[in-house]
Amino acid sequence: MENLEKKAQNVLVQNWKDGFSIPCAKLYPFQWKWDSGFIAIGFAHFDMDKAEKEIETLLNAQWSNGFIPHIVFHTESDTYFPGPDFHRADLHPNASKEYKSTGMTQPPVTGFVLEEMYKISKDKKRSLAFIESVIDKVYDNHSYFYRERDPKNEGLVYIYHNWESGTDNSPLWDDIWATMNPPVYTFERRDIKHVDPAERPTQREYDHYLHIIDIAKKHNYNDAKIAELSPFLVQDPLFNSMLIKSNESLINLYKLIDSSSEKIKQLEAWQEKSIANFNAKLFDEELGAYIHYDLRNEVPLKHLSSSSFAPIYANIPDKERTAILVKNMLEVFGKEEHYLCASFDPRSNRFNPKKYWRGPVWINLNWILIKGLQQYGYHDVAERIKKDSLEIVEKNGFYEYFNPIKKVHLEENAGYGGNDFSWTAALTIDLLND
Ligand code: DGY
Repeated sequence: MENLEKKAQNVLVQNWKDGFSIPCAKLYPFQWKWDSGFIAIGFAHFDMDKAEKEIETLLNAQWSNGFIPHIVFHTESDTYFPGPDFHRADLHPNASKEYKSTGMTQPPVTGFVLEEMYKISKDKKRSLAFIESVIDKVYDNHSYFYRERDPKNEGLVYIYHNWESGTDNSPLWDDIWATMNPPVYTFERRDIKHVDPAERPTQREYDHYLHIIDIAKKHNYNDAKIAELSPFLVQDPLFNSMLIKSNESLINLYKLIDSSSEKIKQLEAWQEKSIANFNAKLFDEELGAYIHYDLRNEVPLKHLSSSSFAPIYANIPDKERTAILVKNMLEVFGKEEHYLCASFDPRSNRFNPKKYWRGPVWINLNWILIKGLQQYGYHDVAERIKKDSLEIVEKNGFYEYFNPIKKVHLEENAGYGGNDFSWTAALTIDLLND
């Protein structure tokens, strides 16, 4: 295992580009928002300077309204599509004048990442000084979400693009694609030059992705217009769990820095409303799990995915509800023949064990589940997911995602997407030190 940790560190060092990390070479050659958070947790174990710099660089690209983009295009690269010329984030009046970026965001992990870094740190004083220098920016980001992304004042924020969810091509979105009919775009896919097309989204899926961006661009990424017009408008339990967990961390950290801060009161008010409405609106009794809600078409998306269990990490369910969630997770995703935790319901005809977010196991989701289960005292289940995670990484390498079907791992390489993938390496380091 010592060897595995060393190898993981090497992956991170290799993907470090003087101020920020790329998720992996060629396929993702820029800085991604939620990737950078998980990467910072990995670096915190052996190079705190880089961990802090990673976060600082991301926050430098924040817009003046508090928004943090999902990709920051720090460098020129022709291995990725769609690049800055397609996204045209500069159309928004508050966009960074210094950095090119997208006009969409990704799960707000930065708050809880700061707390994780603090816990890992051996020099608490230094870490607290660092946190003090960046925490208001993270707070402003949360403020943006509650101000601009919650049209019904429910404490539940929406995402307007599948790339904002982080679970880019989940079968969940098929329900939404069925309500849309975008034009056929002519463009050159770059991702499938680096990765087997069987492991990536289809061409038609990309038409949907680009079309939603075009609608947002037409309105200069104006939030109110997006809320009114985007065909994709979803309250996502994973995204909102990351926000709620980060609220909790910001409260803990502000208490360490300045316990009288007005911001604590605001964060507590957000927490109360968000958690109550999350439980009231996003829990499906029949499925016994949290689900997504399609705000554009006003329908719940009744599917099980690994996101259904993420609220455990954000302390959203009570004990009774957590017991239901764990039972379901084990029954549906935890069969003897499967590694935990497939990204989509293995019983569904939409399940695909090889294709990006349509079934494979992801180490970041596993990490979220492990940490959540530990909080509620489910140490055996947490241990099992940890063992599964480390086993598939050791067997296959630091891939982006993995086949959940165990026997495939005996027959062939069962790691897919990008190899030497940063967050897989980073969270492996964290799990080894858990
Ligand atoms: C991609 O290009 O697939 C990225 O994950 C979008 O964030």
